[in-house]
Amino acid sequence: MSDEEKDELRQNLISRGYTSLLEYDELAAIGITLFGTIEAASLFGLKPNELFERNIRICARTGIEAVYDAKAVTYGLLLSDFIIKHVPDKQVVVIDPFLGSGNFLYSMAKYTKGYAAFGFDNSHPVYELVVANYAKLNFNAHVFFDDYANVSERVRPFDRTNLKNEMFVIGIAPPWGNGFDFKTGLNLNKTTPPCKHLIETYTKQFADLPIVFVIPLPEKVHEESLTELLSMASFYQIFYKGTRTAVLILTP
Ligand SMILES: C[S@@+](CC[C@H](N)C(=O)[O-])C[C@H]1O[C@@H](n2cnc3c(N)ncnc32)[C@H](O)[C@@H]1O
Repeated sequence: MSDEEKDELRQNLISRGYTSLLEYDELAAIGITLFGTIEAASLFGLKPNELFERNIRICARTGIEAVYDAKAVTYGLLLSDFIIKHVPDKQVVVIDPFLGSGNFLYSMAKYTKGYAAFGFDNSHPVYELVVANYAKLNFNAHVFFDDYANVSERVRPFDRTNLKNEMFVIGIAPPWGNGFDFKTGLNLNKTTPPCKHLIETYTKQFADLPIVFVIPLPEKVHEESLTELLSMASFYQIFYKGTRTAVLILTP
């Protein structure tokens, strides 16, 4: 499939929004288009047919922007390595301010053995689907129908140890929208909201606490936008799977 055809599929699914659910054939087509196999469109450790058997569904727009297992498992494992190496004595709290499928949060929590997980989405149909899907998976997370800007306000009341021994891991996967196309890749300054704004927002909200950001990156990234983001970090690590960038871990 050409980049133009992939962009057309992507635009079509985006335009269907958050109320129309994906059918099995559509999920399978996304797996083939994005990663070359149906199985790669797995979520929560379940292949597309297993998701449907358990009535775990996602909506059309989420379908094209989701963090699938093909990537989410890698991110979870890399993050877990990072934590063992750099902050082994901390209790990990994972946060996804843009839940979408909910798979990124699920994976980060599973592989880091995080002791608490918090997710947000400001689309009500998406929020309801995530709550229903997590229940079917027996995954215990605090899920809010709320805006990304209210993360700190929502998370802090759950504080158990006076936040002295916690490490906050925040996934940064806002809608890529017009910031992405298959030919030129992802411009991190053009996501909605821009990734830079999110880093600044949470760096302020959690100024008193240790945090790291995990930012999924596609194969092609707009170089200047990446350089700008890296200049905000005191430490960062970019991981490669094969020859391509897999994920970025960044501490402010
Ligand atoms: C690209 S998806 C995120 C991918 C996701 N982390 C996953 O695991 O599949 C983006 C989600 O962000 C949500 N969203 C958009 N604007 C938001 C906002 N201001 N606050 C919270 N959620 C928002 C959308 O409803 C959508 O479900």
